[in-house]
Amino acid sequence: MSKSTIQTPDTASVQTQPAIRTQDLVKTYRSGKLETKVLQGISLAIPAGSFSCIIGPSGHGKSTLMHLMGGLDRATTGEVSIAGTALSTLSDSELSELRADKLGFVFQFFNLLKNLTAVENVEAAMMFSKTAPKAAKQQRARAHELLALVGLAEKADAKPSQLSGGQQQRVSIARALANDPEILLMDEPTGNLDSQSEQQVLDQLFKIHATGKTIVVVTHNSDLAAQAEIIFEIKDGSLHQAVQPAATKV
Ligand SMILES: Nc1ncnc2c1ncn2[C@@H]1O[C@H](COP(=O)(O)OP(=O)(O)OP(=O)(O)O)[C@@H](O)[C@H]1O
Ligand SMILES: [Mg+2]
Repeated sequence: MSKSTIQTPDTASVQTQPAIRTQDLVKTYRSGKLETKVLQGISLAIPAGSFSCIIGPSGHGKSTLMHLMGGLDRATTGEVSIAGTALSTLSDSELSELRADKLGFVFQFFNLLKNLTAVENVEAAMMFSKTAPKAAKQQRARAHELLALVGLAEKADAKPSQLSGGQQQRVSIARALANDPEILLMDEPTGNLDSQSEQQVLDQLFKIHATGKTIVVVTHNSDLAAQAEIIFEIKDGSLHQAVQPAATKV
């Protein structure tokens, strides 16, 4: 399907401001004289309160797109808006503030701070938030609660090097939830989990979604994608198609 024929899905929630909108998003990496255009001009809208999946082959730009949507990196050209705020209009400190208060991000490769324990990694996310509890004792209690939520209560004092890949992934999920964000961006959040832990994490995600949060998940799991309200398929740095699997179910 060509880019121009892709319609924004016509759901009731689209009537309100999208949680995230990208307009003609381009990302080019430069290394010496070599230029790689990783995103070729992606325009999409993530409806507020929706559960969306991003799928596509390895190396085609899914993580790059997620990083731009999460304000972790700046676009070469084009725009990302979060709840109507264009990120290009924000200073670095305003962007950090918006990220801390509105967004939770689960990185594909965890990005935990290696000198901090699991519980300290979760607490660290609350440092820059205006909405998180201020008192250290309350922050510690919340961090413990979140680790319990992802089934890791007994590993609170372990450092990342003492945790398996799946356990580190769960710490990074707990960290993403620390500030009770409106929008959760998760880059293959269950990629390193066994099927039982995966199911636990997915059950939590669906519960969180049921409270009205917007969730965007990059996944290779077709069962999970089939449960999404919208699937965005990225190929060669372009939006290949946007489908609504639920809408096609009888
Ligand atoms: N910092 C960078 N500098 C140069 N090229 C990069 C950089 N980061 C990513 N790329 C390139 O951009 C392309 C897209 O990478 P990206 O990580 O977005 O893919 P992906 O779809 O998430 O893949 P996967 O499913 O394997 O995680 C790849 O060809 C990658 O080599
Ligand atoms: Mg990736």
